[in-house]
Amino acid sequence: TGGLITLDSGFKNTGACESKITFLDGEKGILRHRGYSIEDLAKGSNFLEVSYLVIFGELPTKAQYEKFEKDIKRHTLLNEEMKNIIDGYPKSAHPMGILSSMTCALTAFNPITVNVNDPVALYEGIVKIMAKFPVLAAWAHSKTHGMPLNYADNSLGYVENILNMMFKIPTETYKINPIAVKALDELLILHADHEQNCSTSTVRIVGSSEAGLFASISAGVSALWGRLHGGANQAVLEMLEAIQNDGGDVEKYIAKAKDKDDPFRLMGFGHRVYKNFDPRARLIKKAADELFEDLGTSDPVLAIAKHLEKVALEDEYFAEKKLYPNVDFYSGIIYRALGIPVQMFTVMFAIGRLPGWIAQWREMRLNKEPIGRPRQLYIGEPLRPFVPMDKR
Ligand code: SDX
Repeated sequence: TGGLITLDSGFKNTGACESKITFLDGEKGILRHRGYSIEDLAKGSNFLEVSYLVIFGELPTKAQYEKFEKDIKRHTLLNEEMKNIIDGYPKSAHPMGILSSMTCALTAFNPITVNVNDPVALYEGIVKIMAKFPVLAAWAHSKTHGMPLNYADNSLGYVENILNMMFKIPTETYKINPIAVKALDELLILHADHEQNCSTSTVRIVGSSEAGLFASISAGVSALWGRLHGGANQAVLEMLEAIQNDGGDVEKYIAKAKDKDDPFRLMGFGHRVYKNFDPRARLIKKAADELFEDLGTSDPVLAIAKHLEKVALEDEYFAEKKLYPNVDFYSGIIYRALGIPVQMFTVMFAIGRLPGWIAQWREMRLNKEPIGRPRQLYIGEPLRPFVPMDKR
């Protein structure tokens, strides 16, 4: 159209939309959902309540909360034919790959587009994905561990069920550990939404073509999988274990991270927006200390993480580039303490981010945002004549 096109790869200086859901201040390390500080929500709320707040914009009354929880429980069953689909996966599959495709497979049993102009249909689509996503996540865990698939137990709470479906074995009654539930609930709150991050932008742009809610969430799962994004929590644990096996030599890994010729990055460090401490990292570090105290256990990897953080923050490279621990730096240590395998860490991130993806998709559709279609600066070949094969 001849209009001015400014190149902004990675959208570092582009506002993609207006939103009322989450407020970030990267300089001050502030995170709020619908005006409530993440510190207040982490302390006083629970994951299902924060999900309601993020999606619908207000903290629910007791009646609204109970209805939301009941409506979600109405939809925790999956169509039995979904088992035929997951049976096609090899045990070696990554749970994120299973979760992404199984989420899209839900469209085989549910309308492909959730009609946002019909509040009842929109609400039904939201409680359906809130109900079925954790079941699919637990199935991905069971499938990759050769274990039988569990159904939700509607007598349990939302977060209790996540642990129950992942760890219950048919020969025993699964004992819910309230300490584990409390730690996981807070961790999920801290992942609920984070404005226009990579996976949320993916959910918005896929939804902007009027692809359905489930297909859009499926795309968000794939975007989250990358190690520069949600996949970092798995990469952090693998890095900390490598340092542990290397005699705890954090200085060696910090030197590698600073070496321009070495592609190694300190996983769990740095952030596009936070040029100060990620408030979530602070809260997760505190939650990890509390969890180990409550459990009466410890994890040598936590000491390595704290030592790595201390040495890095004293190093001018990290100070100059404003690289601080982010949400992924300590979260894996808590997941591991809960018995969650490292390959499932990013799946846990996805469960936490689900309400944010839903909220952002809903807002984009209700605001009738145009289909996302950026332009480019063409730097390829000028016009040239076609040459038939026998002349090349
Ligand atoms: C999440 O966006 C969100 O909100 C995401 C998230 C959410 O809740 O949705 O917060 C969740 O994804 C957290 C981030 C998890 N990723 C990691 O921990 C992977 C390691 N971190 C990075 O790769 C990086 O810091 C990013 C991806 C997080 C941010 O990348 P940017 O903003 O594109 O910054 P950059 O890659 O351009 O880095 C700027 C400079 C570079 O040096 P120079 O080229 O300027 O010399 O800082 C360096 C980078 O080399 N750098 C690092 C580093 N991160 C950046 N050097 C060493 N170790 C690192 N971790």
